[in-house]
Amino acid sequence: MSVPPPIAMLAELTHRCPLACPYCSNPLELTRKDSELDTAAWAGIFRQAADLGVLQLHLSGGEPATRRDLTELVAEARAAGLYTNLITSGIGLTEKRLRALDAAGLDHIQLSLQGTDAAMADRIGGYRGGFDRKLEVARLIGKIGFPLTLNAVLHRQNLHQLPRAIEMAVEMGARRIEVATVQFHGWALKNREALMPTRAQARAADATVAEARARLKGVLVIDYVRADYHSDYPKRCMGGWGTTGLNVTPEGTVLPCHAAQTIPGLVFDSVRDRPLAEIWYEGAAFAAYRGTDWMREPCAGCERKTVDFGGCRCQAMALAGDPAAADPVCIKSPHHAALQARAEAFATAEASEILWRAAAG
Ligand code: SF4
Ligand code: FES
Repeated sequence: MSVPPPIAMLAELTHRCPLACPYCSNPLELTRKDSELDTAAWAGIFRQAADLGVLQLHLSGGEPATRRDLTELVAEARAAGLYTNLITSGIGLTEKRLRALDAAGLDHIQLSLQGTDAAMADRIGGYRGGFDRKLEVARLIGKIGFPLTLNAVLHRQNLHQLPRAIEMAVEMGARRIEVATVQFHGWALKNREALMPTRAQARAADATVAEARARLKGVLVIDYVRADYHSDYPKRCMGGWGTTGLNVTPEGTVLPCHAAQTIPGLVFDSVRDRPLAEIWYEGAAFAAYRGTDWMREPCAGCERKTVDFGGCRCQAMALAGDPAAADPVCIKSPHHAALQARAEAFATAEASEILWRAAAG
């Protein structure tokens, strides 16, 4: 197949983060500060990305605001011609810093929401005072005039707050809300019993989103990531493996998706050793599940194979033990019925103690 250039790059600037969310999708082994790429290295990657055809740069983590050079990094990305989006909890952003980011050319901010009140948000984020701080940052974002997307991560413990989360997005002047039901990768896998929504909650969320989309047309765009363990078809993960986006980890490893390192046997290149374009077009990990040639049944003969590209490779690995299997969320997967039963068991589990994310050094 002819390989298109990537549209988006996620730069995981750091794994350091003041929050301890139990649904963190970062790997169990976090990169330490002394192994992170420095400013000049990131600037070089941004230029390579722009040359490769990347249009949008998502600056993420961890918490990207823990990088002292964040403003400089934004300026470098803008100089390279990239559209810049900062994905943040808001912790570590003061008015002075936000104004500096504005002056450096930051285009957009995506603010995470752990709950719609301090009791919920501070408990889930494991950070006291975080909610009040976030509201203040949202106010400053509006004052300075950044376009804002609110990113509400929802699970069994806070899904009842979805209507209020949508209201908050409108009150904050956000143009978009991403309603993301928790996905179980990385650390989040440890918390399936505590966080798995019930089927009834998943259906109620579908209805809430449908109603709000109709009511708020022209006011707020609602992106929705459904509770996929309770779905019949998988999501098209990463827009298709090696098709639209790539991730760069804090130490410079280039991944087709953020959980790709959970797939044994894949060989990943580093920007420290190889040009980004070569990694995208010729890297073994990107080629492994690109397109449809790697598929077996039921995906190979399926009418949806270029719709969802077999779902999520990392989820197939985690749940079926085989990265080339159909995503077990799919109704055609031999693992589908067992997965739905497990999801129900997790959702109704008695023991639901949260295991908060351990911090990176
Ligand atoms: Fe998607 Fe494969 Fe299921 Fe078809 S069989 S819907 S391609 S996961
Ligand atoms: Fe890796 Fe979905 S997270 S393919």
